[in-house]
Amino acid sequence: MRGEPLASSPALTPTLSRERERGQEAPLLQVDNVSLEYRTPERVVRATHRVSFDVHAADRFVLLGPSGCGKSTLLKAVAGFIAPVEGEVRLEGRRVTQPGPDRIVVFQEFDQLPPWKTVKQNVMFPLLASRTLGKKEAAERALHYLDKVGLSKFADVHPHQLSGGMKQRVAIARALAMQPRVLLMDEPFAALDALTRRRMQQELLELWDEVRFTLLFVTHSIEEALVVGNRIALLSPHPGRMRAEINSHGFSLDSLGGAEFQGTARRIHDMLFEEEQQAVTAP
Ligand SMILES: Nc1ncnc2c1ncn2[C@@H]1O[C@H](COP(=O)(O)OP(=O)(O)O)[C@@H](O)[C@H]1O
Ligand SMILES: [Mg+2]
Repeated sequence: MRGEPLASSPALTPTLSRERERGQEAPLLQVDNVSLEYRTPERVVRATHRVSFDVHAADRFVLLGPSGCGKSTLLKAVAGFIAPVEGEVRLEGRRVTQPGPDRIVVFQEFDQLPPWKTVKQNVMFPLLASRTLGKKEAAERALHYLDKVGLSKFADVHPHQLSGGMKQRVAIARALAMQPRVLLMDEPFAALDALTRRRMQQELLELWDEVRFTLLFVTHSIEEALVVGNRIALLSPHPGRMRAEINSHGFSLDSLGGAEFQGTARRIHDMLFEEEQQAVTAP
């Protein structure tokens, strides 16, 4: 089921230009009625139930919901690591059946970079492994994206010499260097301290301004969702269902603390909370 649109505030209403844009091109990524399950010999855990949303080129689409609602599982399905038990994921109209270089994931963990490779080698590796580029071109592209994340000077050091934030920048450079159709990020800043996290959000938005990649971003932080996303899918607690889709296009780091930002954050919070209340009081 699709979440009901929130039309009560201008910030929650899609802009006209956005609609026009949508009329012209098919969605890049379609998550269509997707149910996902984990099966063990003892039991079946339903992680998401009939989730549908469309992501358009250059969207910064956020999956927001409480821990355990199936956000990571959805991202894994889009990445092609898990097959839906119902519904399907389509990229450019084609059904996703396996992982591919057109969908790259950045994870939360700082240890996603092999420690024995230098920063540059880490960024080059997927380009070489997938035979996307030869060695010389891969090195050039790696340096190009390391420059974009401000790490040119660290190309030849090893990951253990970097801070958590810098490691995440390398992971982002590595993902962008593959020039995927969709960049998938699973709580990439959740393990960072608050100030670094804020700076990484800002840098991600600057990077998006420059490169205009398509982003599918998972978080359980309402504030982060509003800052990072132009559209937000709000998922209900376990198993995740579409609760609402929210247009957050008008918000940025500059709107933090503003009345409209606070009001929207509170409405989202209430929707999550309401759902929990229903779950608690259900017969
Ligand atoms: N490998 C697994 N085996 C069984 N259940 C799992 C597995 N991974 C996740 N789950 C369950 O699936 C649900 C969704 O998990 P997950 O996608 O990780 O949620 P989120 O990322 O939103 O926190 C949770 O109830 C979780 O316990
Ligand atoms: Mg998760």
